[in-house]
This record gives sequence, structure tokens and C-alpha cells, in this order.
Amino acid sequence: MGDAAEDRAKAATYPEGDVLRVLYEQHARIRDLFAAVKAAGGDRRSETFAELRTLLAVHETAEEMVIRPATTAAGGKDVADARNHEEAEANEVLQRLEKLDPAGSDFESLLAELEASVDEHAEAEEHEEFPLIESSCDEGQRQAMGMHLRAAEAVAPTHPHPSTAGSTVAQYAVGPFASIIDRTRDAVRAAMH
Ligand SMILES: [Fe+2]
Ligand SMILES: [Fe+2]
Repeated sequence: MGDAAEDRAKAATYPEGDVLRVLYEQHARIRDLFAAVKAAGGDRRSETFAELRTLLAVHETAEEMVIRPATTAAGGKDVADARNHEEAEANEVLQRLEKLDPAGSDFESLLAELEASVDEHAEAEEHEEFPLIESSCDEGQRQAMGMHLRAAEAVAPTHPHPSTAGSTVAQYAVGPFASIIDRTRDAVRAAMH
């Protein structure tokens, strides 16, 4: 199981704006949000889950559009295909999850399943994919990719420390998961052109 503090420490080893820094920061926030959803009760749980769902939609969609082509170009087509497949599976689980009552036990068990698969997926990215990006993309490319990931985040500005008790209500994109993905695609496409 990966660790948010480790991801943040890793993020800090890359320059501001570098795609690897952005990716590790997003992984840390995803891990924090899983913990926050589990810890939250009542309305706070629905709200925190909406935030997690949004960040996952934004993160995975942007990775598919920005990172996978670079991984493929670096000779990692199999790695890219495996990661895209894992993301598609996680999207299906998320779409089942968003139909459930966050207070119910079905929700809890499906959330645990999703957390385990997202964790495994993120670890695979960090160990197999990010090193390919690091060794094959120069600084300029990495800054450009970082900017494209940030453009995707603009779809759904989330609170930087969502698990902080007493934090103001985070802003997150509303609407079904599929519509957040569509908006993310539009934002990334616009940033890439
Ligand atoms: Fe991913
Ligand atoms: Fe990722």
C-alpha cells in the first residue's frame, strides 16, 4: 500500500510545474481522500466522496491523454495499455459506487475494493511508467505535460488539504462521473492546442 507522505516527499524532489511533481501530488491527494471518505460520516461523507470521485476523473482522464502517448513513444506501449485498462476498470467501479448510498455497507465494501485497485494501479504507474517518462522526456516536455495536467485540474478545483478538520467546503465538479470526464477531456484538449 502506497503512502501519501511518501508521494509528497517524492513530488518535492522535482521542480515546480514538472509533470512528475504534479502526478505525485495528485496521487497523495487521492490517497488522503480515500482516508477522508472512510473517516467521514453523514453528509460529510457524500461531500468528500464527490471530491474523491472528481479528482479521480480528472487525474485518470488527464493521464490517459497526456501521459500514455509519452509512455508509448518511450517504447512502453504494453505499460501504457495495461495502465489504460486498469483505469477503465476503476471507472466502472466508480460508476457503480456513485449510485449507492454512502451510508450503506455496500458502499463501504465497494469503496474498499476501489481503494485497493487504485492503490495497485498508482504503484504500477510509479514503478513502471513514471521512470519511462523521467528518462525519455526532457525538461521542456515535462513542463508542458505538467501544464496540461494542471489545466485538467481547473475543471474541478479541490481543496488542497481536504482531510483537514474544519476546512471550508471544498469546491468540486458536480454531475455524474461521465460528465466530469467529458469536461476534463475538453479542458486538456484546449490546453494541448
Ligand atoms: Fe492512473
Ligand atoms: Fe496516476
